[in-house]
Amino acid sequence: MLSRDGTSGTRITALPLGSGLRPEDLGSAGFRADHGVAYAYASGSMYKAIASVELVVRMGRAGLLGYFGAGGLGENELDASLRRIRAELGDHRAFGVNLLSSRPEREERTVDALLAHGVRRVEAASFVQITPALVRYRLSGAHRAPDGTVRTPNRVMAKVSRQEVAEAFLAPPPAGIVHALADAGRITPQEAGLAPSITMCDDLCAEADSGGHTDQRPMTALLPAMLTLRDRAAMTHAPAGRVRIGAAGGIGTPEAAAAAFVMGAGFVLTGSINQCTAEAGTSDTAKDLLQRAQVQDTALVPAGDMFEMGTKAQVLRRGLFFPARANKLYELWLRHGSLDELDPDTADNVQRRILGRTFEEVWQEVRARYAATRPAIVERAEQDPKRRMALVFTWYFAKATRVALEGDTDHRVDFQIPCGPALGALNERLRGTPREHWRNRHPDDLARLIMTGAAELLSRVARLTSSSQPFAAA
Ligand SMILES: Cc1cc2nc3c(=O)[nH]c(=O)nc-3n(C[C@H](O)[C@H](O)[C@H](O)COP(=O)(O)O)c2cc1C
Repeated sequence: MLSRDGTSGTRITALPLGSGLRPEDLGSAGFRADHGVAYAYASGSMYKAIASVELVVRMGRAGLLGYFGAGGLGENELDASLRRIRAELGDHRAFGVNLLSSRPEREERTVDALLAHGVRRVEAASFVQITPALVRYRLSGAHRAPDGTVRTPNRVMAKVSRQEVAEAFLAPPPAGIVHALADAGRITPQEAGLAPSITMCDDLCAEADSGGHTDQRPMTALLPAMLTLRDRAAMTHAPAGRVRIGAAGGIGTPEAAAAAFVMGAGFVLTGSINQCTAEAGTSDTAKDLLQRAQVQDTALVPAGDMFEMGTKAQVLRRGLFFPARANKLYELWLRHGSLDELDPDTADNVQRRILGRTFEEVWQEVRARYAATRPAIVERAEQDPKRRMALVFTWYFAKATRVALEGDTDHRVDFQIPCGPALGALNERLRGTPREHWRNRHPDDLARLIMTGAAELLSRVARLTSSSQPFAAA
């Protein structure tokens, strides 16, 4: 049979001829038990509710875990969405919500909403260090059970692609932050006292080459590194040994999921494939484009929200000008100190073809947007022409997201649609089947397809191995 190491996943040893694995056998039993789900599988957050209420509810009703795409939503919208999810799923079906690294006051407001709605699971992403808001969420409600074990009702899945960030999540909450929160009365002394006995996360998802923000590391390098890191962390802080290491990035087929489980993943998480389903909260036009994507139809662009830091995101390329235009803007920004330094032809080209407005018109719009809420941004940009150029250029990125979500066909070539190669692989698999069309694709059904297929594949491989046949593809 399969040997399980309790938390870290499934490793194939010998499987008797004729026996079959079921999808619910794959990955960590702890993941399934803790989250109360059928499979060690989750659908990841997608901003602005692309991972919509409908998508998360559909996953929850199927006994699966989906994270709601809270990024970029206003407070009222988040509040209304959490109410709806709660009303649909009640207290017992699993769901989670995205907690993105952001300005401290914004993170705090999101955590306030999560705690007010009793949200028990977050997918923490884009963090480079542990923040007070994250620690407050993690420690709220922590208690010692009658059997002496420490319980943390607020579960954190940390999505990471860098080892130093993974280390921070495998460690206890930083003592300085814990003391400050306790002194301010934001957590109780009892909760603070339990901090040294826990880790910052329950699940650590190694995100390889994915749709959206990505470091584009290959899964075959990243996942083993994270597994080793977890095992090493457990030598100095025993609770780290219980953290489940999962895999995301590039998973859109049974083969990809099977590979992750063979490498020791405790769970898998998908993103790109779920954007091309009936429940995803983006436009039909965007889904039509996604449905035709092949593996090679994605491109890297600067991430609009981290433009000046050089962070990259992966988007759909096929049939779109957005990737080339976004990269052009970044290249111009790198090479020039201000909009005034652009030569007249280039400046004219950017304003007419890319922005569709003059630099001044765009700046006035950006200025008006920030003047009321974040005047410091305006002040800084008015003193720093390079910063102002970045704000004018990233206006285009925000517009490109908006037109894609709205399905504004007048601006179809400017659609910014985060997407990784996983979707191309799935599209290829579904071509000529009823699920070829996105209207027949649903996130829970895709989860079943991937996990059932992975279980069949691994059963086949295990039979080959145990019957001493050569380990070769047919
Ligand atoms: C359209 C889209 C939007 C995304 N938005 C977010 C987000 O707001 N927050 C987040 O943590 N991850 C976001 N992601 C990443 C996914 O949650 C997931 O980690 C990733 O897509 C997995 O890799 P894959 O695309 O190869 O399946 C997004 C991905 C896509 C495709």
